[in-house]
Amino acid sequence: MYTLNFDTVKFTREYWQKKPIVIKNAFNEFEDPISADELAGLAMEEDISSRIVQTQSQGWNVVQGPFEDFDEYGEDGWQLLVQAVNHWYPDSQPLVEAFRFLPDWRFDDLMVSFATPKGGVGPHIDNYDVFIIQGEGERRWQVGDIGNHQQRGGDKSSPLVDDFEPIIDVVLTKGDVLYIPPGYPHCGETLTLALSYSIGFRAPSQQELLTEMADSLIDNNLGKQRFTSTEEVANKGLVSQQQQQGMMELLSQLAQDPAQYQTVLGKLLSQNRFELDLNPFEQAISETDIIEAIEDGANIQRIGGLKVLKLEADNQAQLYVNGEVVSVEGIDAEIVAMIANEHFIEQAILSTWRQQPALMTLLTQFINQGWYYFSE
Ligand code: SIN
Ligand code: CO
Repeated sequence: MYTLNFDTVKFTREYWQKKPIVIKNAFNEFEDPISADELAGLAMEEDISSRIVQTQSQGWNVVQGPFEDFDEYGEDGWQLLVQAVNHWYPDSQPLVEAFRFLPDWRFDDLMVSFATPKGGVGPHIDNYDVFIIQGEGERRWQVGDIGNHQQRGGDKSSPLVDDFEPIIDVVLTKGDVLYIPPGYPHCGETLTLALSYSIGFRAPSQQELLTEMADSLIDNNLGKQRFTSTEEVANKGLVSQQQQQGMMELLSQLAQDPAQYQTVLGKLLSQNRFELDLNPFEQAISETDIIEAIEDGANIQRIGGLKVLKLEADNQAQLYVNGEVVSVEGIDAEIVAMIANEHFIEQAILSTWRQQPALMTLLTQFINQGWYYFSE
């Protein structure tokens, strides 16, 4: 169990998305959920996104995984970063749970880093909120103020920025947490062999929203309305300001109609940037199999990283799972809410559900897709 030692309501009000903060001893008696060896094992897997960053005299060198061995990197000056560890390593999930005071749709992934002395990724700016939790070892963190920071070497595509004046300069030790909102430059330097955990939260950009909206309109043959005008300007080469606004008004009509945007949002927000450890049954199981499993004592567990979302005031009875729409027609709203909120549904609850055919069909679909599995 990982329990945060601070007032999350106060944190959300005063710091969340506003300013960085160091929370010393945010976890009492923190224990690393994964060892360096286990992390190295994950970094050898093809499906898992990993990289090594080497500190060099003139910058940083990034080597993408998977890795076969780590001997060539030596004793210091490098850092291994593995993304979406929560997808592949169920024992890391309890650490993620500690941050579910923030909603699931915002959660990105748990990235775990193993760093050797002098290892680090360099001064950079992220476009997401991050909680950096220190496990074993010590790392020094500097955070600069939000502002106009130049990209290092003028490279516009790089997240690396020039050195900055720190507003936070701290050595994190086991159980400490550093929270950094988007836009604040930061830089970690490793003092002793260290494991650290980055819990990232992200929100959609205009680019992502518009792309998803456009895809949905094309797929459903919608959004065909064209601009009309009754008055035209005399100048041949001119588009009037009123017409420009009228055309953009067509877009804001889409943004004001829940029937147009709800499914788009549900699909977009329930997608995951990283591969999931999907576990579909080789042979599809039936509703009867599910009922039997429940009667035999099975619980049902969601795979790590899967997003199951419900939209408030949804026009349709649906859940959004991993970018897909799932109908929940005929299922009690309270049960739907529970499915969206809980990662684990215990047998005692499931056995009260087994007389409801629509619900059993939903769970059968979830298990056959590999989204959920039976657990002890
Ligand atoms: C790191 O652990 O060095 C990278 C984490 C971050 O800067 O967000
Ligand atoms: Co960062």
